Amino acid sequence: MKKKIAILVAALGIAGAVAFYFISGPNPLDETAISTQIASHKVDLKNGQILYNAGGCISCHRPAKGVKAQNLPSGGAVLKTPVGLFFPPNITPDEKTGIGRWSSLQFLNAMKRGLSPEGKHYFPAFPYTSYTHMSVGDLLDLQAYLNTLKPVDASENKKTSLFGEDLLRRGVGGWKWLGLQTNEFEPQPSQSAGWNRGAYLVTGPGHCSECHTPRNFLMVSDYSRILQGGPHPEGKGKVPSLVGLVKRKKFKDIEDLNSALRFGEIMGYEDISSGGMGEVQTNMSKLPDSDTRAIAEYILSFK
Ligand code: HEC
Ligand code: HEC
Repeated sequence: MKKKIAILVAALGIAGAVAFYFISGPNPLDETAISTQIASHKVDLKNGQILYNAGGCISCHRPAKGVKAQNLPSGGAVLKTPVGLFFPPNITPDEKTGIGRWSSLQFLNAMKRGLSPEGKHYFPAFPYTSYTHMSVGDLLDLQAYLNTLKPVDASENKKTSLFGEDLLRRGVGGWKWLGLQTNEFEPQPSQSAGWNRGAYLVTGPGHCSECHTPRNFLMVSDYSRILQGGPHPEGKGKVPSLVGLVKRKKFKDIEDLNSALRFGEIMGYEDISSGGMGEVQTNMSKLPDSDTRAIAEYILSFK
């Protein structure tokens, strides 16, 4: 009897491992479906730059202190997360240490599926969980813009090294299978153009929900409690709710919130500077006024 149970347990274990192996494998974009979109796309570099700023790429991909070109996303500055220390990689077009040689498909798989060119899973410390909602055209513009930046050789950068990293990455695959929603953003025809633009920027490139929307038990943004605030994802403190900002007398109107997003602390908006929000605001200040206004319109619709 004992032997039978042991065999059964072993068999279940093997079945589980096999299932896990398949579930946690890579799930790339459908190459044929996407290649026509790639081939017919006309690049708009200005749009790419807007998305680069809205996406806050520099906030995480900035170089370590002391490296000269602080305004280039050559990676290497430490990013503290509950999983461990990350050193986000070089995303300048350097051919050896950056992403200059990446195909459009490789870039899209990174941004929309969290997959490396070798088919490894990225950790969601890289917020592809939000970028996945961006349109293919916007991502192609973003890649084209990145390719106009000065290439930086980052061979001196520290590299992420986590305990049991390969197994953890497979685990991320299992987690994606359970919880990652990869649907592209869909505008709501009943809302204004400004609202829809704001909704797109907040949900996709701006990745505001990564901090402002609480997570469910799978640790993914719980959109049924959208923008209601919660514990800080980087482990310390809380992130405020963005619901009812006018009712709670935080901001007077769209104009007021727009100024806060554009000017932040220098204009006396104090609650928009700490816990990573200061960097978000600096990036917002580089957007066209119509875009920050759209974000303000969308956020203030949560009454
Ligand atoms: C909140 C921090 C954060 C932000 C914001 C961020 N990234 Fe990253 N990114 C990371 C981390 C961390 C990794 C590495 C993940 C890993 O090792 O699994 C990464 C990896 C990448 C990679 C893979 C590079 C490689 O060599 O494998 C690309 C491409 C990338 N990011 C592009 C972007 C772009 C474009 C933006 C802006 C739209 C952006 N990232 C914004 C944290 C961030
Ligand atoms: C890295 C985490 C993080 C991200 C990403 C983030 N925020 Fe914040 N946000 C915060 C924190 C923390 C605060 C509180 C800052 C303070 O009190 O100084 C805050 C405050 C705010 C406030 C002021 C709220 C109040 O009660 O006065 C607004 C408005 C806001 N964020 C909007 C946004 C928008 C829009 C985005 C996306 C473009 C965004 N945030 C992305 C962390 C984040």
